[in-house]
Amino acid sequence: MNPKILTHLKGIVTPRSDLIFNELDIRENVAIIINGTQIAAIDSADVLKQQYPDATEIHGQNCWALPGFVDPHTHPVFYKTREEEFEMRILGKSYEEIAAQGGGIRNSVRAFRKASFQQLVELTYQRISQFIEYGTTTIEAKSGYGLSLEDELKSLRILKKISENLPITIVPTFLGAHEVPDEFRDKREDYIELIIKEMIPAVAEENLAEFCDVFTEKNVFSIPESEKILQAAKDHDLKLKLHADELSPLGGAELAAKMGAISADHLLKVSDKGIKAMRDSGVTAVLLPGTAFFLGKEHYAPARKMIRHGVKVALATDYNPGSSFTQNMNLILSLACTQMKMTPAETIWASTLHSAGAIDRLKQLGSLEVGKKADIVLQQVPNYQYIPYHYGMNHVKMVIRHGEVIHHRQN
Ligand code: NIG
Ligand code: FE
Repeated sequence: MNPKILTHLKGIVTPRSDLIFNELDIRENVAIIINGTQIAAIDSADVLKQQYPDATEIHGQNCWALPGFVDPHTHPVFYKTREEEFEMRILGKSYEEIAAQGGGIRNSVRAFRKASFQQLVELTYQRISQFIEYGTTTIEAKSGYGLSLEDELKSLRILKKISENLPITIVPTFLGAHEVPDEFRDKREDYIELIIKEMIPAVAEENLAEFCDVFTEKNVFSIPESEKILQAAKDHDLKLKLHADELSPLGGAELAAKMGAISADHLLKVSDKGIKAMRDSGVTAVLLPGTAFFLGKEHYAPARKMIRHGVKVALATDYNPGSSFTQNMNLILSLACTQMKMTPAETIWASTLHSAGAIDRLKQLGSLEVGKKADIVLQQVPNYQYIPYHYGMNHVKMVIRHGEVIHHRQN
């Protein structure tokens, strides 16, 4: 197959592992050679056209080329949406109160269990397609609305089916420890046993997930319970993630560090000890400002403090029907800038190379470099700062994934 040449770009904007955080490689008037699924060269268009005279041209529409967004925290496999809870929160109920009354995740679980595999595949397919339109080429995607052996397997099989049919990379995570389902409310230890003895072995056996995650939170899973679950996952060669220190400061960041997790996510209430532990163990902090925004919080994760202490910070949508209902990473960058005082350059890093690190794909994804996957988003903007600046908009003109154009906005 002929190589492809991406021409007529304003230029490229990319982080690179040999640069320091916040520093971007910005080059104008360059073209990109794509060979198969990979980036083969980045150089001036004239030089590359001579070197690759047979290359098929992709017209870059005078856009800036950036790495496709890597969204390292999403929950896309659910049945119905929960706009009634959104309204209840506006009227004064908290997320925790709604959950305690049987709403929240358990509300989604009841609906999920009634839906058929096919219905769920169709809905999830639509929802995941919408990530692509906003420039995302890779998502981490969690189960967690099934919460029985069969329904958790169903959730992960849906993700598998979609990743075979949609041109987006899906990194699957088992999140059986998302909540204690209705039928186990007065025997939670039995549910934890079910996760450890049946669900994790079955997920590993069928090779359905790469990561295991736990919602470590007051009234959900405690630190000792989470540790037990994570240890079982580790014993089955699953990599670890953690919903940590979101609503209460339980010490999830410290647990993530202790267990060798790849990432700890949320972290609104992270302690100084937790920050240092993450830094020392190389745990990536996945921050989800869309969730704080959508839940109407005044307090966001202390991004600046984490950055100052040398923690690798990534950004994600947390796309889910309860606490953050958006696929739009561009908006997440805007929120990170305005609410957590991250610079536009830091938000580019955090949504590409650092977020690739948060799903253990540093070698393959997250930057425009020779040898990496040709996952490229063309943004129709005058400069990269304009992406978070002109907020709530979609400036994505074209999306290339593994060397193929998978989205092209015509207007
Ligand atoms: O990351 N925190 C737990 N899980 C989701 C919320 C899921 C839901 O409300 O359905 C989150 O915010
Ligand atoms: Fe989440």
